[in-house]
Amino acid sequence: MSGGSAASLLPVKGIVLAGGTGSRLYPVTSAVSKQLLPVYDKPMIYYPLSVLMFGGIREILIISTPGDLPQFERLLGDGSAWGLRLSYAVQPRPNGLAEAFLIGAEHIADDPVALVLGDNIFHGPGFPRQLRAAIAALDGCVLFGYPVKNPGRYGVGEADGRGRLISIEEKPVRPRSNRAITGLYLYDNDVVPIARGIRPSSRGELEITDVNRAYLERGTATLIDLGRGFAWLDTGTHDSLLEAGQYVQVLEHRQGIRIACLEEVALSMGYIDADACFALGAKLGSSGYGEYVMAMARAAGAAG
Ligand code: DAU
Repeated sequence: MSGGSAASLLPVKGIVLAGGTGSRLYPVTSAVSKQLLPVYDKPMIYYPLSVLMFGGIREILIISTPGDLPQFERLLGDGSAWGLRLSYAVQPRPNGLAEAFLIGAEHIADDPVALVLGDNIFHGPGFPRQLRAAIAALDGCVLFGYPVKNPGRYGVGEADGRGRLISIEEKPVRPRSNRAITGLYLYDNDVVPIARGIRPSSRGELEITDVNRAYLERGTATLIDLGRGFAWLDTGTHDSLLEAGQYVQVLEHRQGIRIACLEEVALSMGYIDADACFALGAKLGSSGYGEYVMAMARAAGAAG
């Protein structure tokens, strides 16, 4: 993915939700957060974090469990290395995705917000530009749909010819379309009162699908289709996690690039300069990742 100028972007807050029990990946996740597991050459959370960075979003709240949150802080710190402002908050129990807006209400303040799930991987040509355009035009909520062969495992949406969301259901037995709602959501500031107004579902969770339905009922929910050439990868099972790693490996080997290299994204977005980028690579020097960061920073004019 290519970067671009971050100038003229709205002040949008970001949230990465990286809690949950990871129970489908036990025993791998018995002692380690799922979102810290490697997807080939970097921790899983790098991928959704890079998405927010590409969107021009620099003030980001990371939410995780009381046990796992310190590990995220250890990995990412205050984010200043990448020109970000990261903060952290605990979700004591996995009460549902929409709880992110209650936990994050102070962080969101009076701004729009982008929520990304810490286990979602997005990769496709033109995505950063598409995301920035969606953020700049944000009015209500914007969801991203992706065609899958097993939609019943996800939130499922339908849109009219103009991209207005006309139906949305959580894990329907008989899906009305093959469009899964991906784990990246853009909202105006009304999301906080809307989330405060919803009640737990039959499975006891504050459902993001109920938040999205509230926007649908107001007529302000948009569904953008991520097309066939796009990769939205699942990390929910051992097989899909391995396949996601293989996808990244194949592309990185073939093209000599790195996907979701935070240092490269920060440089391409103008969040850090080439010398700062080189210094970050030097710290990781003995790894292939560190060498890549240094080479890329040199190509961008770093003195090192
Ligand atoms: O991945 C996209 C899907 O995510 C959407 O299509 C669905 O509409 C949405 O409900 C959600 O479905 P999942 O079944 O994948 O949700 P899951 O409970 O697995 O949670 C997704 C991630 O969020 C997972 O990594 C754990 C984390 N999580 C989950 C809950 C319920 C939290 O951090 N806190 C929570 O309270």
